[in-house]
Parts: sequence; structure tokens; C-alpha cells
Amino acid sequence: MAIRQVLVTGGAGYIGSHLVDGLVARGYDVVVLDSLVPQVHRSGTWPSYANPRVRYVQGDVRDRAVFEPLVLASQAVVHFAAAVSIGQSMYQIDRYVDVNTRGTALLLDILVNTGHQVEKVIVASSIGVYGEGAYACGTCGPVAPGLRGEAQLAAREWEQRCPRCGTPVRSVPTPEDKPLYRDNIYSMTKYHQEEMVLLIGKTYGIPAVAPRFFNVYGPRQSLSNPYAGVAAIWISRLLNGKPPVVFEDGGQLRDFVSIHDVVDCLTLMLETPGADFLPVNVGSGTTVTILEIARLLQRLLGSTVEPEVTGVGRKFDVRHNTADITRARETLGFAPKVSLEQGFAELIEWAKTTPDVAVDEFDRALAELDRKGLLVRS
Ligand SMILES: NC(=O)c1ccc[n+]([C@@H]2O[C@H](COP(=O)([O-])OP(=O)(O)OC[C@H]3O[C@@H](n4cnc5c(N)ncnc54)[C@H](O)[C@@H]3O)[C@@H](O)[C@H]2O)c1
Ligand SMILES: [Zn+2]
Repeated sequence: MAIRQVLVTGGAGYIGSHLVDGLVARGYDVVVLDSLVPQVHRSGTWPSYANPRVRYVQGDVRDRAVFEPLVLASQAVVHFAAAVSIGQSMYQIDRYVDVNTRGTALLLDILVNTGHQVEKVIVASSIGVYGEGAYACGTCGPVAPGLRGEAQLAAREWEQRCPRCGTPVRSVPTPEDKPLYRDNIYSMTKYHQEEMVLLIGKTYGIPAVAPRFFNVYGPRQSLSNPYAGVAAIWISRLLNGKPPVVFEDGGQLRDFVSIHDVVDCLTLMLETPGADFLPVNVGSGTTVTILEIARLLQRLLGSTVEPEVTGVGRKFDVRHNTADITRARETLGFAPKVSLEQGFAELIEWAKTTPDVAVDEFDRALAELDRKGLLVRS
């Protein structure tokens, strides 16, 4: 049976809603299960961009009575509902594990114990499963250092050193087979979600894919939610005349990928078998420093407010992590199209039209991290 009905959990959220639009445009019947968590949906109602051709069900992925009938009516499940902030996961541990890990466990329990017709499961994983990115040591070759310690951050020795010989190492794009190190609760739950879905998929012959999203940016990204992506937070700051706050020295390397490229990649995962039973990096394959992002946004906004480089470290941050997207290219034929200039220009145009942009909660969120002892100053 061909895939016709797709259930998207978390489909009122940022990535899910874009995928939903893409799927509707391709002729799928789409059903969304979303609990409209207040941190993401301030109004408590379906967002203004809700797609009129989609059936929206308000409910929790931990509630079998709601979840099971929707799974049984679908041929594919895209499981995106999750609590999504690294920092917050370090003090709301019960909620993060319950929503992310147990919600996924329930989905699998339903699949294994019912006569479902699901032919594909896609579960959102994350760059967070890697911890630090991949590195190369001039002497030892490929190495995988762990998180930097508090003493190293306090000494402002930002760069990683070789775990074997101690010399400075060079960041390289991270392939899927790099050893994984989870160093925060959110990433642990993403790892468990991915592992559980791939294991049960293989065991029961249900094709499953775990996209590992790098830094996804684009319209509908939460601007007021201080736990969301750094680009949105900075646009909000700059539009409010405040400086983007840069941790460390701003030299952290990241991979920012446009939501449109992400939707393309997810569609390929749904419609083709190339990446079945695998985790797959979803990035742009291009590398940029955090400070370059701040400056690009400043330029595109025509702002004179300079980024504030704090020299403060956060205990849970990695120094560098960029995507090796060879697997997505080779197994899915994925080819990212949107440049950073184009993508951020689009994000800014959208941000200017959203009322949320006036609500800058960054200072409050920063104070919260400070109170919890998660910031390291020298
Ligand atoms: N945005 C990124 O760059 C990024 C990076 C890595 C991984 N991810 C993953 O991608 C997925 C989507 O992320 P997003 O950025 O769109 O987040 P988002 O917060 O915008 O969307 C998540 C949606 O899930 C819903 N939700 C939360 N808990 C729920 C529950 N218990 N039951 C039902 N619905 C619930 C929320 O209401 C929200 O609409 C998540 O699984 C996230 O971990 C995102
Ligand atoms: Zn070495």
C-alpha cells in the first residue's frame, strides 16, 4: 500500500509545520498531533500558519487514547513532538525524559502491538547526539574529544586538544559514525529516541530514518522563546536595539541549514528507501562561525549595534560541530540549495512581520542559566 496519510507529531511547531505544508503540496493527507505547549504557542491556539487542508488534533504524545487511533489510520509517522531546549533540559529533567523518551516509547509500543499499516517512521534526532564534533590531530589522526571541563572554560582555552597527545586539534565535518557523547539531558533523550526507533524498525521490518538536524533556521522559528536557535534570538535582539550576546570568543563553528532544504531532505526520506534504518546528518555542508552569523545578521539588518563577545562559557556547549552530509547526498540524492545570505534575508523579512519579535526574553533566560550555575566566567 502506498503512503497516503502521514501523521506528523509536533506538526504545529517550526520544522513540522514546514514539512506539513510540503507534504500537502505533494498531495498527501496530513494529520497533526500537537499538544500546543505554552512555551512554543503563547496563544494556546493553532498557529496562524496552520494549513487549512490538514486535520489538527490537540493532544499529547504520551496519551495512548489519542495517539493510537491516529497511528492506526496512517501509513507514515513523522515524530517531531518534543521538548527542545538543551539548557532547560538540565533542570526540567523529568519533563524532558517523559515527553521525548516515553512519548517515543509509546509510539513504538503501539506499532509493535497493533495491526498498523505504517511503512515509514521518521524520528527527529539532533546534532546533540554527537556532543563535540569530529576533530583531526596532526599526529594521531581522527579523534573524538569529550566536552571541555569547567577549568578549561574558566581559563578561556576555548579550542579542543587531542585526547591522546594533548596538542591542539583541527575541527572537521562530523560523519554519522563518529563516537557519540551526550552531555545534556535533551541530547540523551534524542539519542534514545533515535536508537529505539531504529532498533524497533529493524527488528520488525518497519523502515525508519533518524534525521540528525544541525542548526535549522527559517520563518516560524520561535523568536520570543529564548531556548530556540541563536539566529532568531539575535534578530530579535538587534531589532530591539540590543547587542547579540556571543559566548566564548565567537569562534565556534556550526552548520546552519535552511528549513527549505530540511523539508527537501525529509521528503526524500519519506519517499525513497535509501536511508532506511540509518541516522542521517541534515545540514548544509557549509561551515560558519557564530561571530560570522552575528555579523551577517547585523549587516542584513543594517544595524549599528555591535555583537557583545562575552568570554563566558556555558557548561553544556560544544566548541565545534559541522555536518558531513555525504550520507544524505549519496543515499538520498540530497542537495542543499539555499545560501546563508538568502536564508537569513528570508528569516529577517519574516521576523519583521511577526509581533513576537518585540518580546526579548533573552536576559531573563540568561539569568536563569546563571542561577543554575551553568555559566563559567574566568
Ligand atoms: N530546530 C532545530 O534546529 C532542531 C535541531 C535538532 C533537532 N530538532 C528536533 O526537531 C523536532 C522539531 O523541532 P522544532 O524546532 O520544530 O520544535 P518546536 O518546539 O517548534 O516544535 C515542537 C512541537 O511539538 C509540540 N509538542 C511538544 N511536546 C508535545 C507533546 N508532549 N505532545 C504533543 N506535542 C508536543 C509543541 O507544541 C510544538 O508544536 C524536535 O524533535 C527537535 O528535538 C530540531
Ligand atoms: Zn594527538
